[in-house]
Amino acid sequence: MPSADEIRDAQRATWAGLSAGWEKWDAVIVAQLGPVGAEMIDRLDMTDDQHHLDIASGTGEPGLTIAKQTPNGRVVLTDLVPEMLDIAARRAKADGLLNVETQVCSADDLPFDDATFDSVSVRFGYMFFPDVTKATAEFARVLKTGGRLASSVWIKPDENPWTTITMQAISSEVDLPAPDPDGPNMYRCAGPGYVRALYEGAGFRDVVEWDVGVELVTRSPAEYWEVMSEHVSLAVAALKQVDAEARERIRANAIAKVGAFEKDGQVRVPGLARCIVGTCR
Ligand SMILES: C[S@@+](CC[C@H](N)C(=O)[O-])C[C@H]1O[C@@H](n2cnc3c(N)ncnc32)[C@H](O)[C@@H]1O
Repeated sequence: MPSADEIRDAQRATWAGLSAGWEKWDAVIVAQLGPVGAEMIDRLDMTDDQHHLDIASGTGEPGLTIAKQTPNGRVVLTDLVPEMLDIAARRAKADGLLNVETQVCSADDLPFDDATFDSVSVRFGYMFFPDVTKATAEFARVLKTGGRLASSVWIKPDENPWTTITMQAISSEVDLPAPDPDGPNMYRCAGPGYVRALYEGAGFRDVVEWDVGVELVTRSPAEYWEVMSEHVSLAVAALKQVDAEARERIRANAIAKVGAFEKDGQVRVPGLARCIVGTCR
Protein backbone atom coordinates (compact mmCIF):
# COMPACT_ATOMS: atom_id res chain seq x y z
CA MET A 1 0.00 0.00 0.00
CA PRO A 2 1.61 3.34 -1.04
CA SER A 3 2.05 6.04 1.60
CA ALA A 4 -0.08 9.21 1.62
CA ASP A 5 2.87 11.17 0.20
CA GLU A 6 3.31 8.64 -2.61
CA ILE A 7 -0.42 8.84 -3.44
CA ARG A 8 -0.32 12.64 -3.53
CA ASP A 9 2.81 12.61 -5.73
CA ALA A 10 1.17 10.15 -8.16
CA GLN A 11 -2.03 12.23 -8.25
CA ARG A 12 -0.03 15.42 -8.89
CA ALA A 13 1.73 13.83 -11.85
CA THR A 14 -1.50 12.31 -13.21
CA TRP A 15 -3.59 15.48 -13.10
CA ALA A 16 -0.81 17.76 -14.29
CA GLY A 17 -0.63 15.47 -17.33
CA LEU A 18 -4.41 15.53 -17.82
CA SER A 19 -4.81 19.29 -17.44
CA ALA A 20 -4.40 20.10 -21.16
CA GLY A 21 -7.15 17.59 -22.02
CA TRP A 22 -9.46 19.07 -19.38
CA GLU A 23 -8.90 22.57 -20.80
CA LYS A 24 -9.35 21.43 -24.41
CA TRP A 25 -12.64 19.62 -23.66
CA ASP A 26 -13.87 22.11 -21.06
CA ALA A 27 -17.25 22.73 -22.74
CA VAL A 28 -18.00 18.99 -23.09
CA ILE A 29 -17.02 18.27 -19.47
CA VAL A 30 -18.92 21.29 -18.10
CA ALA A 31 -22.06 20.13 -19.94
CA GLN A 32 -21.69 16.50 -18.83
CA LEU A 33 -21.10 17.21 -15.14
CA GLY A 34 -23.31 20.30 -14.87
CA PRO A 35 -26.42 18.43 -13.65
CA VAL A 36 -24.44 16.96 -10.75
CA GLY A 37 -23.04 20.37 -9.77
CA ALA A 38 -26.54 21.89 -9.99
CA GLU A 39 -28.01 19.28 -7.62
CA MET A 40 -25.14 19.74 -5.16
CA ILE A 41 -25.54 23.54 -5.19
CA ASP A 42 -29.28 23.24 -4.73
CA ARG A 43 -28.80 21.36 -1.43
CA LEU A 44 -26.22 23.81 -0.06
CA ASP A 45 -29.01 26.30 0.79
CA MET A 46 -26.75 29.24 -0.06
CA THR A 47 -27.25 32.94 0.56
CA ASP A 48 -25.74 35.48 -1.82
CA ASP A 49 -22.99 36.38 0.69
CA GLN A 50 -21.87 32.76 1.21
CA HIS A 51 -18.23 32.04 2.10
CA HIS A 52 -17.68 28.83 0.16
CA LEU A 53 -14.82 26.34 -0.16
CA ASP A 54 -14.57 24.12 -3.26
CA ILE A 55 -12.30 21.10 -2.80
CA ALA A 56 -10.56 19.31 -5.71
CA SER A 57 -11.89 22.10 -7.94
CA GLY A 58 -9.79 21.06 -10.90
CA THR A 59 -10.76 23.45 -13.68
CA GLY A 60 -13.17 25.22 -11.33
CA GLU A 61 -16.50 23.47 -10.96
CA PRO A 62 -18.78 23.71 -9.13
CA GLY A 63 -16.98 26.60 -7.40
CA LEU A 64 -17.19 29.01 -10.35
CA THR A 65 -20.92 28.44 -10.76
CA ILE A 66 -21.33 29.12 -7.02
CA ALA A 67 -19.30 32.33 -7.36
CA LYS A 68 -21.68 33.54 -10.10
CA GLN A 69 -24.68 32.79 -7.89
CA THR A 70 -23.25 34.51 -4.77
CA PRO A 71 -22.02 37.89 -6.02
CA ASN A 72 -21.60 39.26 -2.48
CA GLY A 73 -19.85 36.13 -1.23
CA ARG A 74 -16.37 34.67 -1.61
CA VAL A 75 -15.37 31.35 -3.11
CA VAL A 76 -12.03 29.64 -2.51
CA LEU A 77 -11.13 27.08 -5.18
CA THR A 78 -8.60 24.48 -3.99
CA ASP A 79 -6.81 21.58 -5.64
CA LEU A 80 -3.64 19.55 -5.20
CA VAL A 81 -2.50 20.42 -8.73
CA PRO A 82 -1.48 23.95 -9.78
CA GLU A 83 -1.91 23.18 -13.49
CA MET A 84 -5.61 22.42 -12.94
CA LEU A 85 -6.18 25.50 -10.74
CA ASP A 86 -4.46 27.73 -13.33
CA ILE A 87 -7.22 26.75 -15.76
CA ALA A 88 -9.84 27.54 -13.10
CA ALA A 89 -8.24 30.97 -12.58
CA ARG A 90 -8.31 31.63 -16.35
CA ARG A 91 -11.99 30.64 -16.47
CA ALA A 92 -12.77 32.96 -13.51
CA LYS A 93 -11.01 35.85 -15.28
CA ALA A 94 -12.79 35.14 -18.57
CA ASP A 95 -16.11 35.23 -16.71
CA GLY A 96 -15.17 38.49 -14.95
CA LEU A 97 -15.52 36.90 -11.49
CA LEU A 98 -13.88 39.02 -8.78
CA ASN A 99 -15.07 37.00 -5.77
CA VAL A 100 -12.88 33.95 -6.42
CA GLU A 101 -9.43 32.99 -5.18
CA THR A 102 -7.38 29.84 -5.70
CA GLN A 103 -5.22 27.91 -3.26
CA VAL A 104 -3.12 24.82 -3.95
CA CYS A 105 -3.54 22.31 -1.09
CA SER A 106 -4.46 18.71 -0.36
CA ALA A 107 -7.98 17.92 0.84
CA ASP A 108 -6.65 16.12 3.89
CA ASP A 109 -4.52 19.05 5.11
CA LEU A 110 -6.37 22.33 4.64
CA PRO A 111 -4.61 25.67 5.30
CA PHE A 112 -7.72 27.32 6.79
CA ASP A 113 -8.80 28.17 10.35
CA ASP A 114 -11.54 26.25 12.12
CA ALA A 115 -15.13 27.34 11.34
CA THR A 116 -14.18 29.54 8.35
CA PHE A 117 -16.73 28.50 5.70
CA ASP A 118 -20.52 28.38 5.31
CA SER A 119 -20.35 25.53 2.84
CA VAL A 120 -17.97 23.04 1.19
CA SER A 121 -18.30 21.20 -2.15
CA VAL A 122 -16.29 18.24 -3.48
CA ARG A 123 -17.38 17.21 -6.98
CA PHE A 124 -15.69 13.98 -8.15
CA GLY A 125 -12.69 14.46 -5.86
CA TYR A 126 -13.21 12.07 -2.93
CA MET A 127 -11.99 8.97 -4.74
CA PHE A 128 -8.50 10.42 -5.24
CA PHE A 129 -7.67 11.47 -1.66
CA PRO A 130 -4.98 9.52 0.22
CA ASP A 131 -7.05 9.43 3.42
CA VAL A 132 -10.80 9.96 2.94
CA THR A 133 -11.52 9.88 6.70
CA LYS A 134 -8.94 12.57 7.44
CA ALA A 135 -10.22 14.68 4.54
CA THR A 136 -13.81 14.51 5.84
CA ALA A 137 -12.61 15.53 9.31
CA GLU A 138 -10.91 18.52 7.67
CA PHE A 139 -14.17 19.54 5.93
CA ALA A 140 -15.97 19.38 9.31
CA ARG A 141 -13.22 21.42 10.98
CA VAL A 142 -13.28 24.32 8.50
CA LEU A 143 -17.11 24.48 8.31
CA LYS A 144 -19.14 26.65 10.67
CA THR A 145 -21.76 24.89 12.80
CA GLY A 146 -24.80 24.34 10.57
CA GLY A 147 -22.69 24.63 7.40
CA ARG A 148 -23.30 22.20 4.56
CA LEU A 149 -21.02 19.70 2.83
CA ALA A 150 -22.06 18.44 -0.63
CA SER A 151 -20.03 15.94 -2.65
CA SER A 152 -20.43 13.56 -5.57
CA VAL A 153 -18.80 10.29 -6.62
CA TRP A 154 -19.22 7.87 -9.51
CA ILE A 155 -21.43 4.82 -9.17
CA LYS A 156 -20.17 1.44 -10.39
CA PRO A 157 -18.93 0.91 -13.99
CA ASP A 158 -22.11 -0.88 -15.18
CA GLU A 159 -24.04 2.35 -14.70
CA ASN A 160 -21.44 4.37 -16.60
CA PRO A 161 -21.18 3.23 -20.23
CA TRP A 162 -19.44 6.50 -21.05
CA THR A 163 -16.34 5.04 -19.36
CA THR A 164 -16.93 1.30 -19.73
CA ILE A 165 -17.04 1.45 -23.55
CA THR A 166 -13.54 2.91 -23.58
CA MET A 167 -12.19 0.71 -20.79
CA GLN A 168 -13.56 -2.48 -22.38
CA ALA A 169 -11.92 -1.51 -25.67
CA ILE A 170 -8.63 -0.93 -23.85
CA SER A 171 -8.90 -4.23 -21.95
CA SER A 172 -9.06 -6.12 -25.26
CA GLU A 173 -5.39 -5.14 -25.73
CA VAL A 174 -4.08 -4.48 -22.19
CA ASP A 175 -4.22 -6.53 -18.98
CA LEU A 176 -5.78 -4.02 -16.63
CA PRO A 177 -5.03 -4.87 -12.99
CA ALA A 178 -8.00 -4.85 -10.59
CA PRO A 179 -7.91 -1.47 -8.83
CA ASP A 180 -6.85 -1.37 -5.17
CA PRO A 181 -10.23 -0.98 -3.37
CA ASP A 182 -8.62 1.36 -0.82
CA GLY A 183 -6.42 3.28 -3.25
CA PRO A 184 -7.31 6.17 -5.54
CA ASN A 185 -9.51 5.13 -8.45
CA MET A 186 -12.62 6.43 -10.13
CA TYR A 187 -15.00 3.89 -8.54
CA ARG A 188 -13.46 3.66 -5.07
CA CYS A 189 -16.43 5.42 -3.39
CA ALA A 190 -19.16 3.68 -5.42
CA GLY A 191 -20.55 1.45 -2.66
CA PRO A 192 -23.94 2.55 -1.33
CA GLY A 193 -23.42 4.32 1.99
CA TYR A 194 -19.62 4.63 1.57
CA VAL A 195 -19.52 8.43 1.66
CA ARG A 196 -22.52 8.62 4.02
CA ALA A 197 -20.48 6.62 6.59
CA LEU A 198 -17.56 9.05 6.20
CA TYR A 199 -19.87 12.01 6.81
CA GLU A 200 -21.51 10.41 9.85
CA GLY A 201 -18.12 9.34 11.22
CA ALA A 202 -16.99 12.99 11.07
CA GLY A 203 -20.14 14.11 12.95
CA PHE A 204 -22.31 15.40 10.08
CA ARG A 205 -26.08 15.13 10.64
CA ASP A 206 -29.08 14.88 8.29
CA VAL A 207 -26.97 13.03 5.71
CA VAL A 208 -28.84 12.34 2.47
CA GLU A 209 -27.58 10.61 -0.69
CA TRP A 210 -29.26 10.39 -4.08
CA ASP A 211 -28.38 9.47 -7.66
CA VAL A 212 -28.06 11.87 -10.59
CA GLY A 213 -27.90 10.88 -14.25
CA VAL A 214 -25.46 12.49 -16.67
CA GLU A 215 -24.80 12.31 -20.41
CA LEU A 216 -21.51 12.72 -22.23
CA VAL A 217 -22.49 14.46 -25.47
CA THR A 218 -20.13 14.61 -28.43
CA ARG A 219 -20.59 15.39 -32.13
CA SER A 220 -19.42 12.01 -33.42
CA PRO A 221 -18.01 8.64 -32.27
CA ALA A 222 -14.55 9.90 -33.29
CA GLU A 223 -14.93 12.95 -31.07
CA TYR A 224 -16.12 10.68 -28.21
CA TRP A 225 -12.80 8.82 -28.51
CA GLU A 226 -10.77 12.03 -28.53
CA VAL A 227 -12.53 13.31 -25.41
CA MET A 228 -12.09 10.03 -23.53
CA SER A 229 -8.48 9.39 -24.51
CA GLU A 230 -7.40 12.93 -23.62
CA HIS A 231 -8.99 13.60 -20.21
CA VAL A 232 -10.13 10.43 -18.37
CA SER A 233 -7.45 9.33 -15.90
CA LEU A 234 -8.05 5.55 -16.21
CA ALA A 235 -7.99 5.64 -20.01
CA VAL A 236 -4.99 7.94 -20.36
CA ALA A 237 -2.93 5.81 -17.94
CA ALA A 238 -3.85 2.52 -19.66
CA LEU A 239 -3.17 3.89 -23.16
CA LYS A 240 0.41 4.73 -22.16
CA GLN A 241 1.07 0.97 -22.14
CA VAL A 242 0.24 0.32 -25.82
CA ASP A 243 2.01 0.97 -29.11
CA ALA A 244 0.49 2.97 -31.98
CA GLU A 245 -1.01 -0.07 -33.72
CA ALA A 246 -2.74 -1.37 -30.59
CA ARG A 247 -3.96 2.14 -29.84
CA GLU A 248 -5.53 2.31 -33.28
CA ARG A 249 -7.30 -1.04 -32.75
CA ILE A 250 -8.61 0.17 -29.37
CA ARG A 251 -9.80 3.41 -30.94
CA ALA A 252 -11.63 1.56 -33.72
CA ASN A 253 -13.24 -0.80 -31.20
CA ALA A 254 -14.47 2.06 -28.96
CA ILE A 255 -15.76 4.05 -31.94
CA ALA A 256 -17.68 1.01 -33.25
CA LYS A 257 -19.28 0.35 -29.84
CA VAL A 258 -20.22 3.93 -29.08
CA GLY A 259 -21.99 4.13 -32.44
CA ALA A 260 -24.97 2.49 -30.68
CA PHE A 261 -25.49 5.81 -28.86
CA GLU A 262 -25.45 8.00 -31.99
CA LYS A 263 -28.68 9.70 -32.93
CA ASP A 264 -29.58 12.83 -34.89
CA GLY A 265 -25.96 13.90 -35.34
CA GLN A 266 -24.95 13.51 -31.69
CA VAL A 267 -23.49 10.77 -29.51
CA ARG A 268 -25.10 10.78 -26.06
CA VAL A 269 -23.65 8.24 -23.61
CA PRO A 270 -25.22 7.97 -20.15
CA GLY A 271 -23.67 7.73 -16.70
CA LEU A 272 -24.75 7.81 -13.07
CA ALA A 273 -23.30 9.68 -10.11
CA ARG A 274 -24.21 9.80 -6.43
CA CYS A 275 -24.53 13.07 -4.52
CA ILE A 276 -24.23 13.25 -0.75
CA VAL A 277 -25.12 16.22 1.46
CA GLY A 278 -24.86 16.68 5.23
CA THR A 279 -24.93 19.40 7.88
CA CYS A 280 -22.04 20.18 10.21
CA ARG A 281 -22.88 19.84 13.92
C1 LIG B 1 -12.17 14.51 -11.59
S1 LIG B 1 -11.31 15.98 -11.17
C2 LIG B 1 -12.68 16.93 -10.55
C3 LIG B 1 -12.57 18.37 -10.90
C4 LIG B 1 -13.82 19.23 -10.63
N1 LIG B 1 -14.22 19.24 -9.25
C5 LIG B 1 -14.98 18.82 -11.51
O1 LIG B 1 -15.92 18.18 -11.01
O2 LIG B 1 -14.95 19.13 -12.72
C6 LIG B 1 -10.48 15.48 -9.69
C7 LIG B 1 -9.56 16.53 -9.10
O3 LIG B 1 -9.09 16.04 -7.82
C8 LIG B 1 -7.82 16.62 -7.62
N2 LIG B 1 -7.12 15.93 -6.51
C9 LIG B 1 -6.52 14.71 -6.52
N3 LIG B 1 -6.02 14.45 -5.30
C10 LIG B 1 -6.30 15.51 -4.51
C11 LIG B 1 -6.04 15.83 -3.13
N4 LIG B 1 -5.37 15.00 -2.32
N5 LIG B 1 -6.49 17.02 -2.66
C12 LIG B 1 -7.14 17.89 -3.47
N6 LIG B 1 -7.41 17.64 -4.77
C13 LIG B 1 -7.00 16.46 -5.27
C14 LIG B 1 -7.16 16.47 -8.97
O4 LIG B 1 -6.04 17.30 -9.12
C15 LIG B 1 -8.32 16.84 -9.92
O5 LIG B 1 -8.28 18.20 -10.27
